Amino acid sequence: MTPTPYVSYETAPKTAGHLREWAEAELALAGVPSPGADAAALTAYAYGWDVCEFAKHVRDVAPAAAFGRLADLTRRRGGGEPLQLIIGTAPFVGLSLAVAPGVFIPRPETEGLALWAEESIVDTDAPVIVDLFAGVGPLAIYLARRRADARVVAVEADESAASLLTDNASAYDVRVDVVVGDIRDEGIASRLPAADLVVANPPYVETAVIPTLPVEVREWEPRAALDGGVDGLAFYPVIAALAAKILREGGVVAVEIAESCGEVVSDILSTVGDVEVSRDLAGRDRYVRARKASGI
Ligand SMILES: C[S@@+](CC[C@H](N)C(=O)[O-])C[C@H]1O[C@@H](n2cnc3c(N)ncnc32)[C@H](O)[C@@H]1O
Repeated sequence: MTPTPYVSYETAPKTAGHLREWAEAELALAGVPSPGADAAALTAYAYGWDVCEFAKHVRDVAPAAAFGRLADLTRRRGGGEPLQLIIGTAPFVGLSLAVAPGVFIPRPETEGLALWAEESIVDTDAPVIVDLFAGVGPLAIYLARRRADARVVAVEADESAASLLTDNASAYDVRVDVVVGDIRDEGIASRLPAADLVVANPPYVETAVIPTLPVEVREWEPRAALDGGVDGLAFYPVIAALAAKILREGGVVAVEIAESCGEVVSDILSTVGDVEVSRDLAGRDRYVRARKASGI
């Protein structure tokens, strides 16, 4: 790849808005998929402002130090480092969650699962919620904030992610009980409460597809957070079996899926109860839920 021709501050334009335009051009040249949005976020970050605050100062003259910082941030982003790891946070339905190298970065499509899961327990008082594969806690923390009457338990195998989850929950002043453990362990059910809702965004990328993912995913996010085995479905039978064990009658298990897997994951979750598939904002099958029938 041809190296990006970074320019010196002397030859660069001099207002904050011009710096953002410069960053956008550099990111576009480096092949970053959303150069405008990323340039806006990085320029605001270089100044220590949020994007709205930045808009107020867009015509101010830019100090050389801000350009130096932006040049460094732009070089990192152009080299494939995810925006969220550069700025240290990822947005999730109005939350701003701390992330760090080595953990999975919450995705916008998971926001739909959060809303659908919340809707599933709208009529349940003091629900018990279990978030499997919890990562840095987007689903657990969103649900804990929305349902002050809930008890929320999150299961995560990776200690760094579990520790960030705890920090994120403290930052939002909500209680989430974190269980560090492997969902496949025989004894995991005995560490979990009887639940009204089980949510899960498991690793679901087919092993063979991982090397073809964009560099910012395949080189910056942990394989264990992505790899769903040969067919991407390895974890769904484990979730179904665990949900069947811990869900109360009438309780719901709601999971995120790859867009082509609506039917097959519905089959797997039908062992728990009646299933439903839902779509993401792009109209692709993205979530499946099952309500536990009596006698299961
Ligand atoms: C796709 S990420 C989802 C994280 C989070 N729920 C979200 O939506 O951002 C899957 C997470 O599951 C964790 N994980 C992978 N295998 C696991 C296992 N066997 N038991 C528990 N957690 C696991 C990974 O460390 C990762 O944080």
